[in-house]
Amino acid sequence: MATTKKKTMVIIGGAGGIGTACAQVLKDYKLVLTDYATQDVTKAVEKLTSEGFDAVGIACDITKKDDVAKLMEFSIKQGNFGGLIHTAGVSGSAQNIKKVFDIDLVGTDIIIDAFYKVATKDSVLVLFSSIMGHTIPANPEYDDALLNPQAESSFSTVAKFVNDDADIMYNFAKRGVLLLLKKNAFRFGQKGARIVSVSPGVIMTPMGIKAAEEHPERMNMMKQLTPLGRNGTPEDIAEVVKFLISHKAQFITGSDILIDGGIVTQLLKKAS
Ligand SMILES: NC(=O)c1ccc[n+]([C@@H]2O[C@H](COP(=O)([O-])OP(=O)(O)OC[C@H]3O[C@@H](n4cnc5c(N)ncnc54)[C@H](O)[C@@H]3O)[C@@H](O)[C@H]2O)c1
Repeated sequence: MATTKKKTMVIIGGAGGIGTACAQVLKDYKLVLTDYATQDVTKAVEKLTSEGFDAVGIACDITKKDDVAKLMEFSIKQGNFGGLIHTAGVSGSAQNIKKVFDIDLVGTDIIIDAFYKVATKDSVLVLFSSIMGHTIPANPEYDDALLNPQAESSFSTVAKFVNDDADIMYNFAKRGVLLLLKKNAFRFGQKGARIVSVSPGVIMTPMGIKAAEEHPERMNMMKQLTPLGRNGTPEDIAEVVKFLISHKAQFITGSDILIDGGIVTQLLKKAS
């Protein structure tokens, strides 16, 4: 009996909290795991392989075009390219507005451009925004810069609005991810490929735990505001991502899915 070859799925930020959870639910795929540090990639791949997953890895700094090009070539070499799940990112804890802009937004733009070249019918890209991206209103002054993050003046244009606060830059960068999603849906669609994003609420990963330690009052308030009354788990996100990359989601593109226990509705109500 003929067997169908597994699709290759790339997990960027694959050593992180949500990236790890996504890998755990994708046993039917060949996984290409990537993250910033070689030792983290090696460790994650060894663990997955020991658990029976079909996984290979390569380190990649998503802010470097050459690294991302190498990742793309390595992924294509695995055959039957199915798409990617881009979970790499930093929060405001990075305390450097340029770093947050470069990793969370410029890196995302570099990844979209590199993988657009090899996207074919049924390929899918999953990007990661955040509930915080939904809290930044539309404004032509910064939206144009967010839509073109690799342009020379874009960082300084956005920087004018964030008061040197890395948490605020994170929110702008995540709005930028939502704008890049809309910008790219049509050209991917013309290849029969899809591009979607998810916007997590507060999720208990290393990133979420650090934020809870740095801002305990804010995090407590967020939990109280959440209609479902709890923080999210990485598995809450992974199951939705698994659906989004599957054939069952074949008519979904250009959409952002909030996975936040309902908190965004409350945050926006509070702000208005
Ligand atoms: N955890 C939350 O509460 C939460 C909420 C909303 C959105 N998000 C978003 O979800 C995504 C995943 O977050 P997470 O909670 O798993 O975070 P995490 O910190 O656990 O994982 C992020 C991973 O990205 C990697 N990374 C950072 N910079 C990189 C670079 N330059 N090149 C390659 N890899 C790099 C890190 O090494 C890390 O493994 C992020 O985009 C984050 O902004 C998370």
